[in-house]
Amino acid sequence: MSVTLGIDVGTSGTKTIAVDASGKILASASAEYPCDYPRPGWSEQDPDLWWSATVATIRDVLAQAHLKPSEIAGIGLSGQMHGSVLLDADGHVLRPALLWNDQRTAAECAEIEERAGGRAALTRLVGNRALTGFTAPKLLWVRRHEPKIWEKVRQVLLPKDYIRYRLSGTYATEVSDASGTLLLDVANRRWSDELLTRLELDSALLPPCHESPEVSAAVSEIGSEATGLVRGTPIVGGGGDQPAGAVGNGIVRSGVVSATMGTSGVVFAHTPEPGYDPEGRLQRGCHAVPGAWHVMGVVLSAGGSFRWVRDELGDVEVEAAPARGVDPYELLCDEAALAKPGCEGLFFLPYLTGERTPHFDPNARGGWIGLTVRHTRADLIRSVLEGVSFAMRDSLELIRAMGVEPDQIRASGGGARSPLWRQIQADVYGRDLVTINAAEGPAFGAAILALVGTGAYATVPEACDAMIQVVSQTACHPANRAIYDRAYPVYHQLYQALQTSFGQIASLTAH
Ligand code: XUL
Repeated sequence: MSVTLGIDVGTSGTKTIAVDASGKILASASAEYPCDYPRPGWSEQDPDLWWSATVATIRDVLAQAHLKPSEIAGIGLSGQMHGSVLLDADGHVLRPALLWNDQRTAAECAEIEERAGGRAALTRLVGNRALTGFTAPKLLWVRRHEPKIWEKVRQVLLPKDYIRYRLSGTYATEVSDASGTLLLDVANRRWSDELLTRLELDSALLPPCHESPEVSAAVSEIGSEATGLVRGTPIVGGGGDQPAGAVGNGIVRSGVVSATMGTSGVVFAHTPEPGYDPEGRLQRGCHAVPGAWHVMGVVLSAGGSFRWVRDELGDVEVEAAPARGVDPYELLCDEAALAKPGCEGLFFLPYLTGERTPHFDPNARGGWIGLTVRHTRADLIRSVLEGVSFAMRDSLELIRAMGVEPDQIRASGGGARSPLWRQIQADVYGRDLVTINAAEGPAFGAAILALVGTGAYATVPEACDAMIQVVSQTACHPANRAIYDRAYPVYHQLYQALQTSFGQIASLTAH
């Protein structure tokens, strides 16, 4: 039976899994790495960290599953989207990659919209408005602020495509991740020569762009020596972590929507047409399914907010967890469960790294609003889970406004692991929530794309139908839903009320 590897190059770590054609996970390995925040709003990572983690996890997975490298039929890659890996003529990395949650490019976003002839013209060309996290504004930033580096740049790659390059020596990408560069004509699934010309960017900087299940490269001698994989093992296009994760969640037909929480939180819907919104209120892109597209809303600090709580306020849980054989997050959720739904009017705004959907504001800040002396630590923690869920609902409302009423919401990622957070999500979204048998998200989707690309299945939906089943349902609780339905408009307008202050706060800390 075919076995493929799915490799997800994430923000906090890289995960590699081995999957057989029935969808069974034969082995899984992860390696973590840090992220640098050199200034407020900046976020960078050294691509070498991704490569070391990839090598370590591939070797680990092969050993764990007692797989002979020759048994690996193919490799699928997935990864954090939008990051900019800048290479010189010899393929060497010129500076740390600017990541998807880096917020330094507000001026470049304005410049791009202007050069494109306005926001509506830009969204017509590339499907999206200019967002600070996207790749194109990062290129303009480096061109403006680091001209000595810029003059050496010969190739621009996305994070997972850098791993493809290290494995194979081939420069290549695919349409789903390329959609997040702002340089892809999403409707026609090819680079936008028109926008490249308007931005004075050379199209030779960009790699060839494939469909996601298509074979794009093969493991080289050097890649084989590093990882133990067989030279010539095919590598399919793969997908950005969100589209690949959507494949891993079976979001390959209209009506099924996913709510995924990693560091970021994403509400994702499959669409049969590219669609067009002059305001670009949701991100639009090619799906990792040939002939399909997607829309998504992105909350920048979803699991990231909860991780911050663990790191900054969770000393007690972090200390107690090993002895009790549980994860500190589980203990934090136990504490949060002591608070009542709605936290007696305490709201948490999760804008710890600015916000993308629906506010598109790099200066937005997080905070607790509504504190009284009655509030407890349990309220502080629960309100974070609720605030992130409200932020996800903001995106869900935009998807609903497009006329897509989800008949099923599939929860995945860290936010789906805790029964409490699943219940809060179901009650805040006002919909029953389901989880599926595969919890590996993007890595699983990447492995599925490799199974399709190497012939185990004819199409991505066919593969998903064979491998993915719903395994749990969290019913929306009517009384809690009523509490959250009253609280949500209050949450939603807190940002409007604070927007000016956020700008002023940002100017206090600007360099
Ligand atoms: C999607 C996005 C994030 C990153 C994080 O547009 O910015 O979800 O892909 O992994």
